[in-house]
Amino acid sequence: MNQPQTFKVFSIAGAFLVGIWIPLRLIGYIPQPQMEIFFDILCSLVAVANIQIYFSNHRNDFRKIQSWLNLSLALDMLCALPLSLLAFLLFDTTSSSLLLLNLLLIRHVSQIKNFLDFYDHFQPVTYRLVPLLIFLPLGLHLIACGWIALGSGNVGPTGDATFDYVRALYWSFSTLATVGYGDISAKSIPQMIYTCFVQVMGVGVFGYVVSNMTSLLSRKDAAREHHMDNLEKIENFMRSHEIPTDIRHRVRSYYQYLWKNKKGQQDQNILKSLPRKIQSELLLHINRPILEKVPILKDASPELVEDLMHHLEAHVYIPGEKIFRIGDEGEAMYFIYKGAIEISAPDKTIKALLHEGDFFGEMALLEDRKRTATARATQFCELYVLKKEDFNRAMTNYPEFLEHIHNVVMTRIP
Ligand code: CMP
Repeated sequence: MNQPQTFKVFSIAGAFLVGIWIPLRLIGYIPQPQMEIFFDILCSLVAVANIQIYFSNHRNDFRKIQSWLNLSLALDMLCALPLSLLAFLLFDTTSSSLLLLNLLLIRHVSQIKNFLDFYDHFQPVTYRLVPLLIFLPLGLHLIACGWIALGSGNVGPTGDATFDYVRALYWSFSTLATVGYGDISAKSIPQMIYTCFVQVMGVGVFGYVVSNMTSLLSRKDAAREHHMDNLEKIENFMRSHEIPTDIRHRVRSYYQYLWKNKKGQQDQNILKSLPRKIQSELLLHINRPILEKVPILKDASPELVEDLMHHLEAHVYIPGEKIFRIGDEGEAMYFIYKGAIEISAPDKTIKALLHEGDFFGEMALLEDRKRTATARATQFCELYVLKKEDFNRAMTNYPEFLEHIHNVVMTRIP
């Protein structure tokens, strides 16, 4: 962890500690004077860390110099004064009211978001969960202390500080999350007003927690959610158009295949948002299996591979689906990544059965004529499609690719 981040951790931990300790102190939990002075010095150090963070954030930014003396900085400077220590040295006593000023340090707990932003290797869930795990207990504690200060729903104190505190925590949790269970209720006017205030706040807090949790849970398996969403839309579509059962079955099995084999990935859309250099690296990684399976690509030069990776598009075909028919325009050639393709002649005789690693559809492109045979998937197939214009450009730029393809074509029975 670098120095500014270490300061931030110190500032956040200090803010959290201040938020826990000072309210407890204010409602009557009295520590040893040494402890009080130690804590006061700690608060001063946290304030100094905040001042340091402030200046390092605005370093080299002279336009901000004027804003240096803003309110936040002034408050931190005040907090940096060790008032309890001074009072102890001068008057041999300390007072809880001297600590009040340090309560202002709590606001720095919000730096947690800024702290997390520094790291790019965390899962998105961490960015949501960590602040929640810090803000929620702190908020509950503050509300509980407020409730104790007002009498904990009793006319007088019970005498058991721990019991009072846990009971107040329970009250603040149930009042924030629901409207309370009624087992601990307000007895005096200030308590009633405070309860109303916490209940209103609870609407926001509860909404915030629930929405974060919902979003966390749904994002945890976002791919499945997306897939389920698509399935639901398709089902509704098929129902409203009264699609026959066998077609419905084929559509469902296509989606099932997509989900099982590709986890419903929308690779192309994700990649398009990235810079081209990173795209190339990702594509090389993602398409490594096709490179390894197709001999003609495996032996190609790195430049050609990089070029092709940007233009190959993965398509899934269902069993029995025709990729093209005899006489169709030649618009692309195909590399078989998974599955098998049947090539049939005009008299319907099967000319060839092509498997993983083979390619087809090149003749129409090479000779600029119509398809000489029909290509049909015999099972679920994943094909990588290279469009005619990209094929032609590769042929011109990389003569060795043309030669490779020619060599394979020569082996094919006409
Ligand atoms: P094209 O003519 O574009 O479309 C039909 C494709 O079937 C053809 O390109 C070849 O890729 C492929 N093909 C044709 N005959 C054979 C064969 N005997 N063996 C393997 N593939 C073939």
